[in-house]
Amino acid sequence: MAAVFSELVQFRGLFQLIFVLGIGGSFPYGFHISVISYPSAHIRKFINETWIERHGSPLHPETIMLLWSFIVSVYGMGGFLGSLCCGYLTTKYRKQKCQMCANLIILVAALIMAFSKTAKSFEMILVGRFLYGIGTGFSLNIHPQYVGEISPKKLRGFTNSTVSVFLTLGKLTGQVIGLREILGSEALWPWLLASSGLSALVQLVTLPFFPDSPSYLLIQKGNEEACRKAIRKLWGEGDHQAEIDDIMKEKAAMKSTKTLRVLEIIKDRSLRWQLYTSVTVMTTLQLCGINADILLFF
Ligand SMILES: *[C@@H]1O[C@H](CO)[C@@H](O)[C@H](O)[C@H]1NC(C)=O
Repeated sequence: MAAVFSELVQFRGLFQLIFVLGIGGSFPYGFHISVISYPSAHIRKFINETWIERHGSPLHPETIMLLWSFIVSVYGMGGFLGSLCCGYLTTKYRKQKCQMCANLIILVAALIMAFSKTAKSFEMILVGRFLYGIGTGFSLNIHPQYVGEISPKKLRGFTNSTVSVFLTLGKLTGQVIGLREILGSEALWPWLLASSGLSALVQLVTLPFFPDSPSYLLIQKGNEEACRKAIRKLWGEGDHQAEIDDIMKEKAAMKSTKTLRVLEIIKDRSLRWQLYTSVTVMTTLQLCGINADILLFF
């Protein structure tokens, strides 16, 4: 018990950063997946009403359903776009900067959501949802990388598992505050959709107080002093030379390997089986029911 406690004190910087990364990383992703099913009836009614106000006649129920399905699925399209850009951006810019950029996108989306009802525009819900997709597409890619790079080897398994913990926590939070008694009511649904701006805001103001990942500072920036400083801040005082040597070795190895682009990975015959395996795992994972709550709107 005493050992666990002293580790908690020693690595408190690390644990704080894990929390900050989680709250704006995989948390909003899980949140948006579960939260959208709650205001379904209200938003469909809202689409109908705004249409009547603009054009004088109600929309066909099937058109409303189509628009609603589009609102749900445009999130995935945004996510796709976000993750595509993210790989390129994180090699070019600092992960911290990219993550804060994602927070800004989510905040803009939250503002758009919050005012959609007042502005009587269902298009704003579409745009907001798309931006949420882009933002979480970013953060869902950055979060696992960042959190893996900041931890010492012995804690890496634990830190990597926090990604799915925060994802599940996000889903749960979405389910709880989506209840009619909290924010899922007809009057409050815009605030329900906007509420994830809060986690983005928390991360945006706290992340600058933490260092970038030590391996990034050493490998990409070649700044050993900054790397040491970051490690001291995250892992406390003590002898971390062995870990720094490991990053050095990684840096030396990096020189002889080149980074592959998506197309090169698809073309490379020697990577074929790894590619098949990860595609199979990732696609079948989607069929296991993990995202079935998204289908509640039917
Ligand atoms: C749309 O509004 C009209 C008029 O209030 C109503 O008759 C119709 O049932 C509504 N359609 C849907 C799908 O809610």
